[in-house]
Amino acid sequence: MQIQSVRGFHDILGKDAKKFRKVSEIAREVLKLYNFEEIILPVVEYAELFQRSVGETTDIVQKEMFVFEDRKGRKLALRPEGTASTVRAFIQHKLYALRPYWKLFYEGPMFRYERPQAGRYRQFHQIGAEVFGVAEPHADAEIIKITYDILEKLRIKNVVVEINSLGCKKDREAYREALLEYLYGVKEELCSDCISRMERNPLRVLDCKVETCKEAVKESPKIVDFLCDECREHYEKLKGYLKALNVPFRENHNLVRGLDYYTRTVFEAVSDDLGLTLIAGGRYDYLVEELGGPPTPALGFALGVERLMLLLEDEEEGFKDVYFIIPFGDERVYEYALKVGDALRKQGKVVELSYRKGGLKKQLEFANRMRYKYAVIIGEDEVKEGVVTIKDMESGKQRKEKIIP
Ligand code: HAM
Repeated sequence: MQIQSVRGFHDILGKDAKKFRKVSEIAREVLKLYNFEEIILPVVEYAELFQRSVGETTDIVQKEMFVFEDRKGRKLALRPEGTASTVRAFIQHKLYALRPYWKLFYEGPMFRYERPQAGRYRQFHQIGAEVFGVAEPHADAEIIKITYDILEKLRIKNVVVEINSLGCKKDREAYREALLEYLYGVKEELCSDCISRMERNPLRVLDCKVETCKEAVKESPKIVDFLCDECREHYEKLKGYLKALNVPFRENHNLVRGLDYYTRTVFEAVSDDLGLTLIAGGRYDYLVEELGGPPTPALGFALGVERLMLLLEDEEEGFKDVYFIIPFGDERVYEYALKVGDALRKQGKVVELSYRKGGLKKQLEFANRMRYKYAVIIGEDEVKEGVVTIKDMESGKQRKEKIIP
């Protein structure tokens, strides 16, 4: 039987591979303008890292992690996201001891056992950025502005940035009580998952994707009404900064995000066209401490490369600036053609020596089909004269040129 790729795991090829690289290049370009440094993280971590950060009651940890044992029986996981790993690395390498604050970014595949559909895969790619050591809301504003800049540079339209504040630990305690009381009142309408995690983590109910649960929590108490003075001030300042930066946003007081580590600011850039979140993030001021580091406020975001790719237009397929060398003759011609290729590449030209067999007509047809702009024809006469014949495939014009000095 022919072997196919695993469900939810995809090859990315042709035009899509170009789009994939474009998202990555633009995100890197923007992150460079904000002076972020790259961190290259491993794909495998101890499963416990995600249990303790993303949270035991989240869908990601409960249902979606690829967990396996290594030969010594240690429980490992394919990373479902990059924040936990970045925090782990921040603590492990004692980065906090070296500078007052850090700005790191990462790129790579993430793995979640979700039901595959358009824009949702089991292996997908994220580009994420994390800031450590900054508590003030101007950092939140910059993180949201970065996501806005990336979307703008990619010319992705119809996206709304939604924001909310989840407050600090104290605010959450008061809110928890009020929310639980409300949830008990609508318990009949909740799914079994929500009922079982309600006591342990009532906030998760607000993030449930089941329609009846979504409907049931519409009228629930809102966390913004429970914010302490500091958290409220943080949130108000953030909104002021976003306005000053001309970043359009919408407040969504039901936005809680699917991961447990968030505090204060959370946000998502949602595509109206796809009905999916493209970029998401927020603050996680306790996570570094909870994972064994010193108290360090932190925040960040991650974008889904495949989701952004779905919204990119196809590039126009014009002629490509490729020099396609067509040698015909014996090995002397090939020797000359190899040297011509070398000389052109030294000039910075993109050169392809034809590996195709067949006469000149077939070769030119092939060059045309591949949309190569220049055919570089080399026969015995050209070798004798020390030149090449260059045919411009777009205009059809032909000229002789000396390439090798
Ligand atoms: P997240 O919301 O779980 O956040 O994922 C971020 C983005 O990854 C999503 O908005 C989406 O574009 C993409 N994504 C997630 N799951 C899938 C999937 N199954 N298929 C395709 N794309 C997907 C985080 O991961 C946090 N670590 C973000 C963060 C960074 N918060 C603070 N710092």
